[in-house]
Amino acid sequence: MAEKFMEWQARFSVGIPLIDDQHKRLIEITNNLYDACRQSGAIYTGFVAALHQTADYVVFHFGTEDKIMRRINYPDYAIHSKEHEMFVKEVLRQMHDYENEKTYAPHALARYLRDWILSHIALTDLKLGAYLLNMKKSGALEKALERFIDAKSQTF
Ligand SMILES: [Fe+2]
Repeated sequence: MAEKFMEWQARFSVGIPLIDDQHKRLIEITNNLYDACRQSGAIYTGFVAALHQTADYVVFHFGTEDKIMRRINYPDYAIHSKEHEMFVKEVLRQMHDYENEKTYAPHALARYLRDWILSHIALTDLKLGAYLLNMKKSGALEKALERFIDAKSQTF
C-alpha cells in the first residue's frame, strides 16, 4: 500500500479524545487535499474545494482548542492562539493567491499545511496536552470542562 501523505501517530496524543479525534480528522482532510493535487491542470476546482474544506476545518478545530484553553485559564494561551492566528492568515493568503492564479503550486501548499500541522501538534499542542493531563490527574480538568464536552460522547 502506498504511503500516506500524513499519518496520525500515538505520540501525537494530547490525552483528551476530543482534540485527538479532531487532529485525526484534520490529518484525513489534509490527505484528501493532497490527493486532490493529483488532479491538477489549471486551477483545479476539486483542489480548491478540498482547500476550502481544509481551511474550514482548521478554523473549527482551532476554535475548539481556543475555547478549551480559555476555560482552563491556560498560561500559554496567548502564544498558542497567536500561532493559530498566524497560520490561518498564511493559509488564507496562499489560498487567495492560488485562486487568483498568482501561484500554481498545489503540492507546495499541501506540504506547507502538513508540515505546519505536524510540527504544531508535536510541539505546541503536546505542551497543552501535558498541561491537560496534569489537570486530569488532579480531577480539575473534568470540572473545568464540564458542560463544554458532553460527558456521554466524550470521555477524558
Ligand atoms: Fe493548537
